[in-house]
Amino acid sequence: MGLTKAKATMIMTNSKKSVRRNGRMNAVKRNNTKKPKIATNLPGPRAKAILNKDHKFVSPSYTRSYPAVVESGKGVWVTDVDGNVFLDFSAGIGVVSTGHCHPAVVKTIREQAGKLLHMSGTDFYYPNQANLAEKLAEIVPGAKNKKVFFGNSGAEAVECAMKLARYHKRRARYIAFTGAFHGRTFGALSLTASKATQRRFFAPLLSGINHVPYAYCYRCAYNLQYPSCDVACVRHIEDVLLKKVVPAEEVAAVFVEPIQGEGGYIVPPPKFMPALRALCDKYEILLVDDEVQSGMGRTGKMFAIEHFNTKADIYCIAKGVASGLPLGACVARSGIMDWEPGSHASTFAGNPVSCAAALKTIELLENGLVENAARLGAIALARLSALKDRYEFVGDVRGKGLMIGVELVGDAITKEPVKDRRNAVVYEAFKQGLLLLGAGESTIRFIPPLVINENELHAGLQIFEGVLKKVFRAI
Ligand SMILES: Cc1ncc(COP(=O)(O)O)c(C=O)c1O
Repeated sequence: MGLTKAKATMIMTNSKKSVRRNGRMNAVKRNNTKKPKIATNLPGPRAKAILNKDHKFVSPSYTRSYPAVVESGKGVWVTDVDGNVFLDFSAGIGVVSTGHCHPAVVKTIREQAGKLLHMSGTDFYYPNQANLAEKLAEIVPGAKNKKVFFGNSGAEAVECAMKLARYHKRRARYIAFTGAFHGRTFGALSLTASKATQRRFFAPLLSGINHVPYAYCYRCAYNLQYPSCDVACVRHIEDVLLKKVVPAEEVAAVFVEPIQGEGGYIVPPPKFMPALRALCDKYEILLVDDEVQSGMGRTGKMFAIEHFNTKADIYCIAKGVASGLPLGACVARSGIMDWEPGSHASTFAGNPVSCAAALKTIELLENGLVENAARLGAIALARLSALKDRYEFVGDVRGKGLMIGVELVGDAITKEPVKDRRNAVVYEAFKQGLLLLGAGESTIRFIPPLVINENELHAGLQIFEGVLKKVFRAI
């Protein structure tokens, strides 16, 4: 599990000392580190052929920001169909937590695939589904007495949480946050308020959902400062929304990402999650923690909510849970997951192979990868934060563990978002062999696989710094 604060501080201090002590030696070692290898124009000839086919037959709704056509992956490295080698700081949108094709995960998948591919956990029983539910009940914060519903994706975990909250509370409404991303199925999309494109022409969405500003302190909706604001964004929910717009006794749940992902990698201040918990307790509203992106060790603790000393009533999990196989899970206290047989189910969900991959993934996370995310995340955050002091266009650097966002701006005073330049940075990084993704309007996210080592981390950050200088023409 995650590190204690004291242990994390000790590791950070020691790593800082050792970086100083071994500065020169490390620099020499880093020069010998494996680097990306780009041998063709991008996209290369074989990539172009795939792109042509893809453009002809695959839905144009996907948001590809550059033409990476990947053939294979190992650890933090992926190779494209033309043999170009990239350093992957996207981890397949935070999915390959244990790295690409971790040998232990691949072995487990192969063994399980040879035994049983599918049986449908909604109508039959098999060991892996029960074993994984037991494990998730153990590692998700809160009392051990929990139950798990399995789905195939993050959106399905969220749909489950929405239906369960309504069913259990017999209340119809939800509260969510601006900037939130909870998925793209109709229910989850109704909670999502990250980008207008995601909702355009899909109305009417689910009714009874109110969005309130997230604790985005760098761009506070109330123009206040933390902590003197006294978490105004949570007070607003009580003082305005619940008093004037939405009767609290009609609200089933508040949905929140403990660190906002697609919305821009926004880390709320320490008091935000506890204040939200207190509000939910006061009005007997369920608190749903969407850990789809921030969970499974990504932030240096198994779940991001643990950074804020808060427990939720329902948790949504997906992405990194099974190292790349499709799996979603909605975890709730047993007393909350009280619905009757037939009220919710899914044919493929929690299939034996995904469950086996998840059990192995969790074992690897518990045996070092969560700790690695905390240690290397601290190093990355320190190095990226130093850029803020050097360049005015680096507006904000924030994150926990290996979930870090760098928000680029026009200048430090106006903080004007620079979407085009952010996109140019992402594209140029691709050309130099580093796979990055944007988030929010003007942020770049750093989410490498949690198996990354220090040399690989510095190799990626070195490329990123060079790209920033090139795009912003900085010295
Ligand atoms: C916080 C959060 N919730 C839900 C989802 C939806 O997950 P999926 O794309 O697997 O449906 C995402 C996807 O990015 C996410 O980041």
